[in-house]
Amino acid sequence: MKHLSFLALVQDDLEQVETLLRERPAGQHEATSAAVEHLIGGGGKRLRPALVLLSARICGAAREKTLFAAAAVEMLHTATLIHDDLIDGSLLRRGMETLNARWSPGATVLTGDYVFAHAAYLVSQADSIRLMGRFAETLMVICNGEIRQMFREQPARIARQEYEQRIYAKTGSLIGLSAEAGAILGDASEQETQALRTYGERLGLAFQVVDDVLDFVADEERLGKPVGSDLRQGLLTLPMLLFLEMEPNHPLAKRVTAPPIPSSIVTAAVQAVAASPAIDQALDVARDYSEQAVAALDNLPPSPYRVALSDLAEFTVRRQF
Ligand code: IPE
Ligand code: IPE
Ligand code: MG
Ligand code: MG
Repeated sequence: MKHLSFLALVQDDLEQVETLLRERPAGQHEATSAAVEHLIGGGGKRLRPALVLLSARICGAAREKTLFAAAAVEMLHTATLIHDDLIDGSLLRRGMETLNARWSPGATVLTGDYVFAHAAYLVSQADSIRLMGRFAETLMVICNGEIRQMFREQPARIARQEYEQRIYAKTGSLIGLSAEAGAILGDASEQETQALRTYGERLGLAFQVVDDVLDFVADEERLGKPVGSDLRQGLLTLPMLLFLEMEPNHPLAKRVTAPPIPSSIVTAAVQAVAASPAIDQALDVARDYSEQAVAALDNLPPSPYRVALSDLAEFTVRRQF
């Protein structure tokens, strides 16, 4: 997100984080190095490390520890993507082939495990037991959420509340931790720590709703990953749920809730949802979450970093990639 002006305040630190992300631990197998270089070098928005850096500035955390924490959350995110793409059978990520497109499931799982371990090592270098505990808890929440989704009734027309729980687990929890990390490292008051955490969690919910919208309306090249992939896996996300609420008797309604879903049905359903008011309704939900995120910032002292967090929340709901 280099071109985003609100990140200019932490640009130098973001470059240091890149250096940490590309450091090759002693003894790392060259195949792992090549895989990590491929994924990290493929780009990504670096939203999570940016949040660590901004929250650390707000709370006066020490720079070196902050850089390790920022690299750790991005490394954790990368590991979850390696396993997510394997589980989903997805072949494109950040505009490039995924590891599972080239490698066996075994090699892909092990590389993901290695990257998880590297993330844990990086967070240990921030020298905060409390942060390490939060890091582990977050990973447990993410995995639990994915397991719950995997063992769900296939595919269920879930209620809004269940959808919110699902996107909290997969995305709100880690984005919440990223915003909270700077407060933990800066020994901020409980009130400020909670404010940053709430900001991050709500931002994460907005971010995932937009991700789910982009799965229907994005330009695949710009997005860097396949569109229509949620439906292809039989996953009903907010735009589809809203569409089904409006059109319970639509001819596609029965088809998308009865797996396996043939690709002609996926294509037709993506087009129908993309052309319907469900997209704007879902974006309204994302805007609500984003406004809740910004409201949580009221509990922090005014500063340019607080303005940057607010701009970031606004960017999240108008992004196209
Ligand atoms: C993708 O996250 C997975 C979700 C939680 C939606 P990002 O959209 O932050 O992915 P990158 O890091 O920019 O590639
Ligand atoms: C992935 O969410 C979240 C985790 C990695 C736990 P998605 O499945 O929506 O992410 P994309 O769309 O593949 O990036
Ligand atoms: Mg996925
Ligand atoms: Mg997605």
